[in-house]
Amino acid sequence: MSFRIEPTAHPTPDADRKALLEAPAFGRVFTDHMLTMRYTADAGWSDGVIAARAPLAIDPAAAVLHYAQEIFEGMKAYWLADGTPALFRPEANAARFNRSAVRMAMPELPEEAFVEGIKQFVALERDWIPSGDGASLYLRPFMFATEAFLGVRPAREYLFAIIASPAGSYFKSGSAGLRLFVSREHVRAAPGGTGEAKCGGNYAGGLIAQSVASQAGCDQVLFLDAREQRWIEELGGMNIMFVFDDGSMVTPPLGGTILPGITRDSLLQLARDAGVTVREEPYSIEQLKADVAAGRLVEAFACGTAAVVSSIATFVDGDQEIGLPAATPVTTRLKSALQSIYAGTAEDRHGWLTRIA
Ligand code: COI
Repeated sequence: MSFRIEPTAHPTPDADRKALLEAPAFGRVFTDHMLTMRYTADAGWSDGVIAARAPLAIDPAAAVLHYAQEIFEGMKAYWLADGTPALFRPEANAARFNRSAVRMAMPELPEEAFVEGIKQFVALERDWIPSGDGASLYLRPFMFATEAFLGVRPAREYLFAIIASPAGSYFKSGSAGLRLFVSREHVRAAPGGTGEAKCGGNYAGGLIAQSVASQAGCDQVLFLDAREQRWIEELGGMNIMFVFDDGSMVTPPLGGTILPGITRDSLLQLARDAGVTVREEPYSIEQLKADVAAGRLVEAFACGTAAVVSSIATFVDGDQEIGLPAATPVTTRLKSALQSIYAGTAEDRHGWLTRIA
């Protein structure tokens, strides 16, 4: 499988691009190119093309528009301190993409093609990687069903694409700490459902709760489990971790309803490397309240590719507000450990960085 590169005839002028890179908001500005690659059940994957970013033409009967066969990934390209662009664990994104594909009855993409496609795409778009604290080029690989057919069965035609967006922080609230809205009305995922797949439908289903949360002045929704409405699962677009007064950490276990975050996995590894006791075990909202009241729960943070590590200040559950202490030493330490790996200034002992020539 190879990629044909057709550079755009109308690149964004240097001065305009530099202005756009100055303080990029999340997900609003896009680079000049996109990668596309088609699949049919008869011919398999065709070779990919990296060409000018442009609107996609799809048939109004395309299966994705009716039955939501769609999956995506979130990844970032960064500048290392030595001036080389790099990716963080792209093979983990490739593997998760294929697990999502299997769950959504979509074709798998050879992992080498996913990683090679990302590398060639980022090499072409390297001038769009912003520098500066927390800035990166956010990469969005995705795949959806293009077959024009209204019968309900897995489609026989798909498009895989990659677009990119220079990005600063996901959250505007910055150092103030996130306010989380505990959703009692809506759930994100149920056992046997699609919770662990990175499919657009999971996010669509969470939007109403996100709107309710925003109206309540919150940054994100905290979803509880579907069966008992008791166990903490994750946020609308990222995982969650808790830090206790004895220095140990807890995060809800992956059990099919939680997205297996690559940032989640990396932070668990970094915490273990630092000698922290980490438990992946169920944690209930009632226990959280008791632990905050007793001073046992001292920090909590959201983690994900877009969110990186964002500390949580408050849980809002109905008319109850549960506040955490302002000091976040463990969160800050873990965030900087991760960021030093992103920047290439810490030892990459797990081989997480892929440099782009
Ligand atoms: C990511 O963290 O990359 C995601 O896909 C989550 C989304 C809320 C931006």
